Amino acid sequence: MDEGVKMKKDFLSIDDIKKEEILDVIDLAIQLKKKPIGNFLNGKVFCLLFEKPSTRTRVSFESGIKQLSGSTIYLDATTSQISRGETVEDTARVLDRYVNAIIARVFSHKTLEIMSKYMNAHVINALSNLEHPCQILADLMTIKERFKDFNSLKLVYIGNGNNVCNSLLLGCAKVGMDMAVACPKGYGPDEKIVELARNYTNVSKSSVTIGIEPKEMVKDANIIYNDTFISMGNEKEKQKRLGIFVPKYQVNEKLLRWASSDVFYMHCLPAHRGEEVTPEVIDGPRSIVFDQAENRMHVQKALILKMMGIKF
Ligand code: CP
Ligand code: NVA
Repeated sequence: MDEGVKMKKDFLSIDDIKKEEILDVIDLAIQLKKKPIGNFLNGKVFCLLFEKPSTRTRVSFESGIKQLSGSTIYLDATTSQISRGETVEDTARVLDRYVNAIIARVFSHKTLEIMSKYMNAHVINALSNLEHPCQILADLMTIKERFKDFNSLKLVYIGNGNNVCNSLLLGCAKVGMDMAVACPKGYGPDEKIVELARNYTNVSKSSVTIGIEPKEMVKDANIIYNDTFISMGNEKEKQKRLGIFVPKYQVNEKLLRWASSDVFYMHCLPAHRGEEVTPEVIDGPRSIVFDQAENRMHVQKALILKMMGIKF
C-alpha cells in the first residue's frame, strides 16, 4: 500500500484541517461511496470511547472501519475505569499501547486535548462540548454533492449556537461559503471560534454574520441548517430552552416562506419534530438530512485514510 501525504496526527477541530485537505477528504469520500470495500485498514484497531449516547457516529465509524478491514472496540466511558476515577492522562497512555486511533465523544473538549498530548495514536473528535468536526465534513460533502462548488453559497444556521454551529462556522469559512447565524441572545456560538472563522473568511472571501432575526437571514439562503435546542448535557434546561427557542427559532413552513423555494434543509440529527423543526420541513422535499447521515460514514473513512497516510 502506498503512503500518501499525511494530515495532522489528530482531528479535534475543523481548525486541524486545511481547506485543501477538506476538499481532498471529500473527493476521496465520493470515491469511497462508489467503492466502499477494501483492505486498507487491515490490522488496525480503533477504540471508540464514548461519554455520551450516539447512533450515527458510533455506527458510521464502526461500519466504515469494518468495511475497510479494520477492527473496532467500543468502550462506554461509564463502564471504564474513568468512571471510578482513573485519570484521562493514564487512560490515554494505556490505550496508546493497544490501538492505532481513539475516536472519542466527550463532555469536555479538554479531555480530547489531554488524549492528544498523551497518545502517539491518532485522536478523532466524535463530538465535544465545543465542536463536532466529523459532522461538518459530512455536511460539506453533502453540500458539494448538491451544488458542486462552495463559492457564492450561503448557509443560515438557526437556533442554538452549539458545537455543530461552531464547527460549521470554521468549515464554511475555510471552504468559502457565507454563513449567517440567528440565535437568541446568550445562546450564540463560541466567541473565539467566531473570531477565528472571521479570519478565515478574509482568506476565502466569504462572510460570517451573527444576529438574532431568522426571517431576514433566510431570504437569500441556499441552505437552512438547525440542530436540537437541548444538547446532550443541557437536559435540565429543557423547558426553559423550549420557551425561548420554539416561538422564533423553529424551522417551519412559516419561516420557509421568507426563503427561496429551492432552499435545502439540513440537520445533523437526531431531530425533535415539533421542537426545532416541524415534520413538514424535515420530512419534506427540501430536506437532505438522510444524505448527511449517510455521508458521515463515507467521509470518516476518507478522513481516517488521509490521517493515516494510506493511499486509496
Ligand atoms: N449527528 C450525530 O452525531 O448523531 P449521533 O449523536 O447519533 O452520533
Ligand atoms: N449538538 C447536539 C447534537 C449533536 C449530534 C449535542 O451536542 O447534543
